[in-house]
Parts: sequence; C-alpha cells; structure tokens
Amino acid sequence: MMRARDFLSIRDFSPQEIRELLGLAQRMKAEPEVYSSSLKGKTLAMIFEKPSLRTRVTFDVGIQQLGGFSLYLSPAEINLGKRESVYDVAKNLERMVQGIMIRTFAHEIVEKMAEYASIPIINGLTDYSHPCQAMADYLTVLEKKGRLAGVKLAYVGDGNNVAHSLMFCGAQLGVHVWVATPKGYEPKAEATAWAQHRAQEAGGSCTITNDAVKAASEADVVYTDVWASMGQEAEAEARRKVFLPYQVNAKLFGHAKTDAIFMHCLPAHRGDEVTDDVIDCPRSVVFEEAENRLHAQKAILLSMMRDVSSSARHTESRESTHA
Ligand code: CP
Ligand code: NVA
Repeated sequence: MMRARDFLSIRDFSPQEIRELLGLAQRMKAEPEVYSSSLKGKTLAMIFEKPSLRTRVTFDVGIQQLGGFSLYLSPAEINLGKRESVYDVAKNLERMVQGIMIRTFAHEIVEKMAEYASIPIINGLTDYSHPCQAMADYLTVLEKKGRLAGVKLAYVGDGNNVAHSLMFCGAQLGVHVWVATPKGYEPKAEATAWAQHRAQEAGGSCTITNDAVKAASEADVVYTDVWASMGQEAEAEARRKVFLPYQVNAKLFGHAKTDAIFMHCLPAHRGDEVTDDVIDCPRSVVFEEAENRLHAQKAILLSMMRDVSSSARHTESRESTHA
C-alpha cells in the first residue's frame, strides 16, 4: 500500500499547504453538508495517553460528520510501549483502521508510529508540539482579523508544546510571533531557530523575550496556556511562583491594541495564567477557538485520510483469491 501522509508537525508542510488546509477548513465550516460522506466508512483510532476534552470530542464528532467512525483507546487499554510495543500497535491498527490520532508524551512515539504504520498518523499533542491546536488557532485569527500576514501574536507563559506549534505555524504564515517566558522556560532553541529562519522567508518574525509587557505591547492577539502541562503536575506549585509576573490580567492585556483578542487553547487555570476579567471579556475568543478545533481537524482528516483504503480489505481479497 502507498505510504500515507502524516500530520505530525506544521514543519512538515509548506506555507502553501498550510494555507490550503486553512482554506479547506473555512469551506468545510461554511458548508458542512457538502462533506458529509467524504470519509464514508473510514475509521479513525484515537489513542490517548493523556486526558482530553476538546481533542477527544472534536476528532470524534469531526470524523462522524464526514461519514466515518472513531474508536477511543484509553491509556489503560493500550498501555503503549508497556503492554505492547509501538511497532506492534502500528502493525495491528494499520490492518483495521484508516487513520490514527495519537496524544502521548514523547514526540518520538508519534514519529515511530508514523514510520511503522502505512496509514496516516495525526499528532493530537505531544510534550513537544500541538499542531492541530495551532491550525485551529490561526483559523480563528484569520476569522477575527481578516488576515494573518503582519499580525502580531504575543504568547505569554511557558515555552511549551503549544508555543512551539504557534511559532511553527505563525512562521509559515508571515505572522509576527512573540513568545514571552520566565528565564529558563523559553521554547527549545532548535524550534526557535527553525521558526526564525522560516519567518524571515515568509515576511514575519519570531521573537523570544523575558519581557511580557514588550511582547504584549500593540499585539493583535494575546495568547496564554497553563503554566504546568500534563505530566508536569508535580512542578505546579514551584512554577506558580515563577510564572506569576507572566499572568495575563487586565493590566497586561491593556498593553495590547484596543481591538486585540485573547486566546487560550484550554483547559484554563483561571486565576493563574489568566484572570476571569480577561478570559470572560468580550474580546476573549476562547470558545470559538475551541470550536475551530472541529473545523480545522475535519480539513486535516479529509486531506490525510481520503485516499487511504483499508489494508484489511486488501488482505481479505488476497485470501479469497487463494481460496
Ligand atoms: N486544547 C486541547 O487540546 O484541549 P484538550 O486537552 O481538552 O484536548
Ligand atoms: N500545554 C498543555 C496544553 C493542553 C492542551 C499541556 O500539554 O498540558
């Protein structure tokens, strides 16, 4: 069977491909009925090694809206790498389903899964990146600001998976991405280097700073995320002290443009990285952003899975020929 295309990182796609995916997401959002049988009969396995609300629900509902099915596999069921190796899981699932969405810890796990499985693998969040989130986020910025090139997006908080994907995607689209973190919590140096290089080609920029006010100043978008990500729960108390000066509150948000929007991938820890008066204000778009996970991921599912046939069916027909 021909190797399918994976959605592991925004870095694997060209700026043109990213723009095409966003355009498809907009069309699918506007006219969902046109696509209601686009993935008819295809099944997406969803492997979760961490909790989820948005990713779980939007992939589940998204594939159903395209005429397909989903299968939720909880951490306890698969126990990836312990009960069964990544290789064996990949080799089983490629015979049973037409795509795998995986949320896990080490990014290498999704890369290995993609190497071993002939069906598309979609990264539903790793410790390193969260590409589906960034696609939904820039779809939201496009809707709210009418453009992406030249927009200033200030991410204030931890230089984590969400920050990395916002940098990668923003760099492809000519956005001026600013990331403000406490010292020692900056994005990974190689991620920054890639984003700065690509941003220059695309007419945008990627600036890393420890100065939250400088980042937020005259921003079109102010974005934050939790200070302790899934898997870092033990560090939460220590991080709270370090990150407090980076809280997105009315004062910090006040440095942005008067029509700036507030974004957060959610779940939010209200009173930590963001105060209620910001997340609940009229310029907060967090729930539209959450809804856009559905539309962005439907475009990803359609693009990655439409040409995948079931290798299980290939096996059946081979067997019946020999019978
Ligand atoms: N933003 C996001 O990925 O949410 P979940 O962790 O609930 O899936
Ligand atoms: N950085 C957060 C994002 C959750 C969607 C985490 O990894 O827990």
